[in-house]
Amino acid sequence: METLKINIDKIYDFVSKETVYGYKKEAEAFNAALDNKTGKGNDFLGWVNLPSSIKNSELADIEAVAASLKSKTEVVVVIGIGGSYLGAKNVVEALSNSFQTLKKKQENPLVLFAGQNISEDYMHELIEILDERKYGIVVISKSGTTTEPAVAFRLLKGHLEAKVGKAEAKDLIVAITDEKRGALRTLATQEGYKTFAIPDDIGGRYSVLTPVGLLPIAVAGFDIRALVEGAKAMEKATAQNVPFEQNPSAIYAAARNALYKAGKTTEILASYNPKLVYFSEWWKQLYGESEGKESKGIFPASVTFTADLHSMGQYIQEGLRNIFETVISVNSVNYKVTIPNDPENLDTLNFLSGKRIDEVNKNAELGTMLAHVDGGVPNIRVEIPKINEYHLGELMYFFEKACGISGYILGVNPFDQPGVEAYKKNMFALLDKPGYEEESKKIKAKL
Ligand code: PA5
Repeated sequence: METLKINIDKIYDFVSKETVYGYKKEAEAFNAALDNKTGKGNDFLGWVNLPSSIKNSELADIEAVAASLKSKTEVVVVIGIGGSYLGAKNVVEALSNSFQTLKKKQENPLVLFAGQNISEDYMHELIEILDERKYGIVVISKSGTTTEPAVAFRLLKGHLEAKVGKAEAKDLIVAITDEKRGALRTLATQEGYKTFAIPDDIGGRYSVLTPVGLLPIAVAGFDIRALVEGAKAMEKATAQNVPFEQNPSAIYAAARNALYKAGKTTEILASYNPKLVYFSEWWKQLYGESEGKESKGIFPASVTFTADLHSMGQYIQEGLRNIFETVISVNSVNYKVTIPNDPENLDTLNFLSGKRIDEVNKNAELGTMLAHVDGGVPNIRVEIPKINEYHLGELMYFFEKACGISGYILGVNPFDQPGVEAYKKNMFALLDKPGYEEESKKIKAKL
C-alpha cells in the first residue's frame, strides 16, 4: 500500500545534510524514550502505543453509540475545546463533502461544534437551528471543569431537556471525560448519561484516537477502524527499532530543529486543499502547545493555497526571512473535473483546455515551492496518497510522534501546557469567581 513520505531535499540550501543528520543519535534516543516512556512528561505517553492497543470491543462500543445517536438525530452537537475539539473537527472537515450542509439528503447527522468559543451570537444562532432539529449532544472535557464547554453544555442541556423532556434528553447525551474526577463526571453519573473515559495518560492534543475524536468521527459516518489502522501503520513505521534514515517522524523532527537553530523560527503548514484547513488548526495546537514554552519554540502558522497565495503569499515570498514551510501534498483527488475548451478564448485559457483542475493545482504547488525556496524559504514536503481515513490516521500519528521527538530535542516537556492557565486566572478574577478575591482586587487595580 502507498504510504506517507517525507522529502526534505529543499531545505539543503539553508542547512546542510550533515547538520540534519547530526541529530540522528539524539532523535533515535528521544524516540526510544517515547516508546519506553522514560522521557519528560512520561505520565502522558498513552498515545504512543494507542493505535496498536485499541481493542476491537472499544471500537465496537463507540460504533454502537454512534449508531444509536444516528438513528435518533439529524444533528449532533459536539461540545469541547482545544484537544477536546480539534481532533474530531479536523477529521470530519477533511472527509466531509465541502457543501455537506446544503445536501438535500443527509445520510448521517450533521456534526456541529460548540463550546470552542464564548460567543453569545454563536450560541444564539446555534440554538435557533436546534429549535427546528432533532439533536443529540456529545460533551467532551477531560478535566470536566473547562469554562467554555461547561457554559455551552449548561445552555444546550437545558434547551434539550425543555424540548424533549428530561428522560428523553438523557438518552441523547453522551459525556466523554475523566474516568473518576471532575464536574462533568459527577454530572454524568448523577444524570445517568452514557459515558466514555479519557485515559489518564493521554493529554487533550494527543487524544484524537480516543473516544474524544472517534465518537464524533463515527457519528459523522466515517470509518474509525481505517483511521486507527493508518495510525497503527505509522506507529510501526516510526517505532524505536526503525533507523533514523527511514523514520519520517525522526527526519521531520531533526529537520525542523536544524532550521530553528539556523534562525527559521516560524513554520508555516501549507496545503493545497481547503478540506485541510482544520487539519492545520489541529497541527497548530499540537506544536504550539507542545513546544512553545520556556521562551523557546517554533511559531506554528498555517496557510491554504492557492487562496493564501493571493494574500500571505507576498509575505512568504519577500517578508522577514525567519520562516520555513511544510507542505502537505496530497497525490490524488477523488473526482475528475476537466477544464473545457472555449472557441472564443477571451479569457486566454485554452492552453488549459482538457487539463484536470488537479493538474493545475499540482503545478501551482510545484511552482510555489520553487519560488519560495528561491525567495529564501526552506521547504519540507509531507506527501500522502489521498485524503481518506487511513491516510489521515497515518498523518496525525506521524505529526504526534515527530512532535514528541522534536520537543525533546528542543529541551522542553512536550506534554504539559502550564501557559494556558494565565488567561483563565485573569478571566476568573475579572468575573469575580469565588476563591479569586485577591486576584480580583489586583487585576481590577490595573484597569
Ligand atoms: O491539549 C490540551 O490539554 C488542551 O487543549 C485541552 O484539551 C483543552 O484545554 C480542553 O480541556 P478539557 O478537555 O479538560 O476541557
